[in-house]
Amino acid sequence: MLVGASDVTRHVGRSSSGLRERLRDATSDAHRELDAQLSAFDLTGVSGYCRFLHASAGALLPLEAALADAGVDGIFPDWPERSRSAAIATDLDRLGATAAAMVSVPPLTRSGVFGTMYVLEGSRLGAKFLLKTVADAADPRIGAATLYLRHGTGKRLWQNFLSKLESEVCDEAEVIAAARVAFAAFDQAADRA
Ligand code: HEM
Repeated sequence: MLVGASDVTRHVGRSSSGLRERLRDATSDAHRELDAQLSAFDLTGVSGYCRFLHASAGALLPLEAALADAGVDGIFPDWPERSRSAAIATDLDRLGATAAAMVSVPPLTRSGVFGTMYVLEGSRLGAKFLLKTVADAADPRIGAATLYLRHGTGKRLWQNFLSKLESEVCDEAEVIAAARVAFAAFDQAADRA
């Protein structure tokens, strides 16, 4: 793992104000714990990388399904560009494994969609760092299975998400609760992987 909890805190600490800042504060402990948990996977070996993808898919699949059920494509018309379920399933398939949901998540309200999207879109920022670790992997099968980690590169998906979040009138408590549920889903899936 290239980036540890203290680096995450430093990077996250320079962010802007508003609801995003409150989301970041409300989930920073969960983020730190998840970072520590994921650091246990050796991403430079096929078996560790596969476990990492399994854990990520275990949470991503049910969270994206809940978003789709809640009509995320009506709120984010570029949802097909944002969804990463197919990318992670392809990566696992290339490694001879199958993506499967590992946790169940409750139905989402509109505000819950924003809290869930905050976590999923934010996870792209961590993916950028993880890719650097994966780049050190000697096994070419790993480099050929990085659609999930590379997904959305160069598309400003995070920045556009933040603009939309700041212009949306949300039930703040619901947004934060959903973000915590999403982090907990990744935490549980990482435990199980
Ligand atoms: C070991 C894995 C991870 C590392 C090293 C990591 C690292 C980072 C870093 C450095 C940032 C700040 C980037 C920036 O401001 O430019 C960040 C932001 C963020 N990450 Fe992670 N991350 C990891 C995993 C995850 C996962 C799995 C999730 C969610 C499931 C997640 C959710 C977020 C969120 C929501 C933010 C945005 C925080 C904000 O509002 O500023 N991260 N991460």
